[in-house]
Amino acid sequence: MNSCRDIKEILTEFYNSYDEDRRLRSRHGMVEFLTTMHYIETYLKLGDRVLEVGAGTGRYSHALARQGYTVDAVELVEHNIKVFRENTQENENIRVVQGNALDLSAFEDHTYDMTLLLGPLYHLYSLEDKRRAVSEALRVTKKGGIIFAAHVISDGCLLDEGFNRGNISVKEYIEKGLLDGETFAAKSEPKDLFELVRKEDVDELMSVFPVERLHYVASDGCALLMREAVDAMDEETFQLYMKYHLSTCEREDLLGVSSHALDIFRKEQ
Ligand SMILES: C[S@@+](CC[C@H](N)C(=O)[O-])C[C@H]1O[C@@H](n2cnc3c(N)ncnc32)[C@H](O)[C@@H]1O
Repeated sequence: MNSCRDIKEILTEFYNSYDEDRRLRSRHGMVEFLTTMHYIETYLKLGDRVLEVGAGTGRYSHALARQGYTVDAVELVEHNIKVFRENTQENENIRVVQGNALDLSAFEDHTYDMTLLLGPLYHLYSLEDKRRAVSEALRVTKKGGIIFAAHVISDGCLLDEGFNRGNISVKEYIEKGLLDGETFAAKSEPKDLFELVRKEDVDELMSVFPVERLHYVASDGCALLMREAVDAMDEETFQLYMKYHLSTCEREDLLGVSSHALDIFRKEQ
């Protein structure tokens, strides 16, 4: 649990000065939001209870509460909880508590129809911690319920933040051991903030759980890599782009270029 305290400090520092609330509001950010909502709406039914773990400022939690679902949310960083509360409207059936994805003991077993884990796995670095977070999400979900787990994908980020935008020096990352110089597989620690994975890492993480994978989705596809083009699209072109994206985002030959991936699975009955 010591490593957890370190991570909380690092995340608090990052999210105190990062405008998480705006992240999914730009047009290129909307691709991930609309894609995730598309899959959430495929599975939610009237009266369902949702838990969002690592809810940030509540973009998904609020959207779902405003559609009439009962939403509980857990978030690690106080600053994000403050913004989450400011964003809450009167008609929402919603509750947010401070907590950690690694320990959801405040929540009963088999309670939620859907559990969203859209963020904590970006900031957990060992297989053991990641499995603990997935295991907790599974525990609180009803039998037959649906879990969404999001990941940051290394190749998509390397192409976008590295080779395209130069925010990351690929050469330096190799020199520091954060990237393998031959395979370009990533290796992160808490100080690096984001844990970058490939699909084989997600498959290894999930291999021990008795779940049925329903979808593995390139949630933002190439939207970050071509953000200027997406932001410049008129409404009609953007709608066509979203139609293209939703029709291709599960294609195996496109999965690795996404910056984020969504693993959607069903807990066994
Ligand atoms: C990138 S944001 C995503 C927020 C929101 N789920 C969304 O998709 O818009 C990741 C969030 O997960 C939170 N987080 C990271 N690790 C966590 C943990 N171990 N337990 C709970 N929240 C965590 C962060 O503080 C941050 O608010």
